[in-house]
Amino acid sequence: MIATEQEPKSLLSFDRERWKGWYESQPNEYDYWIEDIEGEIPPALNGTLFRNGPALFDINGQRLHHPFDGDGMVCAIAFDQGRVHFCNRFVRTEGYLKEQQSEKILYRGVFGTQKPGGLWANAFNIKLKNIANTHVVYWGGKLLAMWDAAEHYRLDPKTLETLGKDDRDGIWAKGDVSKTHYRIDPNCNQDGGAPCLVSFVIKLGILNCKITIHEQDPTGKLQRSYSHIVPGFAFMHDLVITPNYCIFVQNPMTFNPIPFFLGLKGAARCLKPKPNSPTRILVIPRHGKQPMQVLETQAGFTYHHVNAFEQGDRIYVDSIAYESEPLNKVEPGTDYRDIDFNTVPPGQLFRFTLNLADSTVQQQQLLERCCEFPAVHPHHVGRPYRYVYMGVAERPTGTAPLQAIAKLDLTTGEQQIWSAAPHGFVGEPIFVPHPDAKGEDHGWVLALVYDSSHHQSDVVILDGRDLNQGAIARLHLKHHIPYGLHGSWTPTVFN
Ligand code: CO
Repeated sequence: MIATEQEPKSLLSFDRERWKGWYESQPNEYDYWIEDIEGEIPPALNGTLFRNGPALFDINGQRLHHPFDGDGMVCAIAFDQGRVHFCNRFVRTEGYLKEQQSEKILYRGVFGTQKPGGLWANAFNIKLKNIANTHVVYWGGKLLAMWDAAEHYRLDPKTLETLGKDDRDGIWAKGDVSKTHYRIDPNCNQDGGAPCLVSFVIKLGILNCKITIHEQDPTGKLQRSYSHIVPGFAFMHDLVITPNYCIFVQNPMTFNPIPFFLGLKGAARCLKPKPNSPTRILVIPRHGKQPMQVLETQAGFTYHHVNAFEQGDRIYVDSIAYESEPLNKVEPGTDYRDIDFNTVPPGQLFRFTLNLADSTVQQQQLLERCCEFPAVHPHHVGRPYRYVYMGVAERPTGTAPLQAIAKLDLTTGEQQIWSAAPHGFVGEPIFVPHPDAKGEDHGWVLALVYDSSHHQSDVVILDGRDLNQGAIARLHLKHHIPYGLHGSWTPTVFN
């Protein structure tokens, strides 16, 4: 019982001091079979869940300014006929190795971490540390840890040992800035129905940017590349695909790098909303050399999209949208763990209906509750779909940490919510289809949940058909895993 008459439960969904434990560094690396298990692991659930995220929030006690500046640590959670193996390793980037050796902060972070020594130590120092902390994917026989502005790092999928930098077999041109997000077309109609991985890079220019899309087959071989010039500054973190199009949402932002060069601000804090400018939606054909179509809608900000699909002249794009950029709210000289959530806009689920015939866009809010990290059935990527799973706040309104997982039925509007509040904090859910699936929601939802009452993390398995029945199994790890970013599933068992 946590609510009292004076203080309704809605105001007490979490305890800030306990929440802060999610942002404690995890410097240790583990390799063990998970034995502390509640419930039963489904024997048909076989494969490996890879997760990535920042896991060092200090270097030898010197705290970083923003959690997203932390070194990337990859976890591999391998499900093997009812048994589960856990392994985690830091990505041995050049920066990680140098800072661990020197035991001090040697690099400035994109999100505002400064080197010690004040302005003179930071001015004109624009060397960024590739922290490889944002996403991880197994594709074409390679496990890649990815960050938004540098080469990927290749890891051994079994041991998570860092094998070195990887430029995807040289498909990137000089000056291309890699992006972490990708989409897997489950049934590419240009490749005879084989799956393909669609990723993108951006080359930044003064007045415009060049966006290049690469499509790789399951062996990693490049099948297609195509480029378009995009006017203005292109701040884009994610994309969505349909069988015929790649779609990007160009947030109305400007980038003034001068305060970064002068050592005054992190690069991400040099992004500013462009006043009175619309959000531009870029619709890029995946076939032939047809032109890109640009549609406009009201200003806003998106990091992540849920999915997209085509119906006649229309494309439906579902996204998590914010009133303004949410991550740069940590003022210099302040501790992000003391952030006032009331100053951060909530992410909310929206549907954008693009009418290609008359170039108009309609916006509709599908859910008010603060949400992030959406997941859908992999076979429905780019196709009509019914269910979305997301991390959501415990409270139905306002901004708060993600403490629950929601399933939303887009056909009926029905919601199911599995909550870990008040002590639990959830990461990105991943939907894994049942091998003999009978329906889009027939499978499991996997998530890492931080249990702040024990300062340990759990791997939670939910039944995708019914979140209300509670967790099928909770696998207790021997330690905590800090706040994470993105992950992915592969049916190959690596243990
Ligand atoms: Co992302």
